[in-house]
Amino acid sequence: MTKQSTPHHVAIVMDGNGRWASRRFLPRLAGHKQGVDSLKRCARACDARGIKVLTVFAFSSENWQRPQEEVSGLMDLFALALGREVSQLKADGVQLRFIGERQGLSTRVLKGIEQAEASTADNRKLVLNVCFNYGGRWDIVQAAERAAAQGLAMTEQNLSQMMALAHVPDPDLVIRTGGEQRISNFLLWQSAYSEFFFSDKLWPDFDEVALDQAIEAYTFRERRFGKVADQSDAASSPVGAN
Ligand code: IPE
Ligand code: IPE
Ligand code: MG
Repeated sequence: MTKQSTPHHVAIVMDGNGRWASRRFLPRLAGHKQGVDSLKRCARACDARGIKVLTVFAFSSENWQRPQEEVSGLMDLFALALGREVSQLKADGVQLRFIGERQGLSTRVLKGIEQAEASTADNRKLVLNVCFNYGGRWDIVQAAERAAAQGLAMTEQNLSQMMALAHVPDPDLVIRTGGEQRISNFLLWQSAYSEFFFSDKLWPDFDEVALDQAIEAYTFRERRFGKVADQSDAASSPVGAN
């Protein structure tokens, strides 16, 4: 079996901010603030390791159901972080993309998103997809709606091209921090053949060492894509995958 090379695309469910804060007798929002720093560190580390695409789950379609105080705190933090971090990300060569339903977001958040995307659009070092107001089911439905509106046949290939992450290949490695072993409506379509790594570390504690452990585990996985081992030596993607 050949060892996998460094993953091209890593996706992360950044879970555990609330528990990180609770353990310190801090409000949950303090955990989310720490989570932003952890994301900055992680993006830098991914770039340094030759990862070209990082996709993170920042706010799910279902997270609106949290207490109103937490939801508005998260929205404020998101807008604030955008304002504060974009110039550095731009200088670092990061292309920012925001993936998710835009309807229902405040004008302030929308403006931040649009400015961040426009000002980093030419960057090519690392693509950072931030899934915000995102759900895997939403993504499949919006792709189907757009395909139908364009009169396209309902094929896997056509639908793939309409999915919100059509600008990047499918994730090689999906990491979830925080100890839960579930997908929570993240990349349902795109993770069909991803390798999964579950870390007990809470997201604010997920550092370079933890990232390296996940990458190391990935390199020893045998990806078969439905074939048998000696047939594939299985680094290639399945037929039809983008
Ligand atoms: C993940 O951390 C961030 C968001 C969902 C916005 P959580 O807020 O879910 O943290 P825990 O799981 O309660 O610890
Ligand atoms: C998933 O975490 C969503 C994000 C990390 C943004 P949740 O904390 O919302 O997931 P569940 O509720 O534990 O499944
Ligand atoms: Mg959680």
